[in-house]
Amino acid sequence: MNIKISGIGWYMSATYELRRDHEVIMQVLNAMDTLRMLLRQGKDVPLEVIYDTIDFAKNFTDRCHHGKEEDVLFPALNAAGMPKDEGPIAVMLREHRQGREILAKIEDALTRHKQGSSSLDGVIAGIEEYIMLMQHHIFKENNILFNIADMLLSSKSNELNKGYERVEHEVMHDKHGHYKEMVESIVERIDAMK
Ligand SMILES: [Fe+2]
Repeated sequence: MNIKISGIGWYMSATYELRRDHEVIMQVLNAMDTLRMLLRQGKDVPLEVIYDTIDFAKNFTDRCHHGKEEDVLFPALNAAGMPKDEGPIAVMLREHRQGREILAKIEDALTRHKQGSSSLDGVIAGIEEYIMLMQHHIFKENNILFNIADMLLSSKSNELNKGYERVEHEVMHDKHGHYKEMVESIVERIDAMK
């Protein structure tokens, strides 16, 4: 949430950068949903585009975006009184782990397929599981956890947004632009296959 307050400029909420990441991640999840449909229809999809969605999910979504939540937002919520071993933080952490496990399963299924020992069914099932998990996960963050964070941490907004930028720099180095371009390329290639 980015709110214009008359006379004092823009106020950046405590979750501003994270919500912006979610918009980019949702673009890729929507493209993955089209990809899933094309694969179910038996269309000949280049494996390269599937590998790119996995690369994006592992690096941009998990290492960078989940890194910002795990290293910056969740500790701040914890310091503000939200427990970390139960409740929303514990649920979000569990879902981050589940996402990693599903991505590993998809990679295994892709390897087996490339070696000629299996169909793409395992890949498709993994993609479906990942989309479902992440869409619900982002919905819960955007509509519940982040609203709580915006209220509890409003006085720390600048510090938090700087923290997200620090994690992004540490994790991505100069690759952030590369992943932004990758999103466009993924969406374009999948749209062209419809
Ligand atoms: Fe998130």
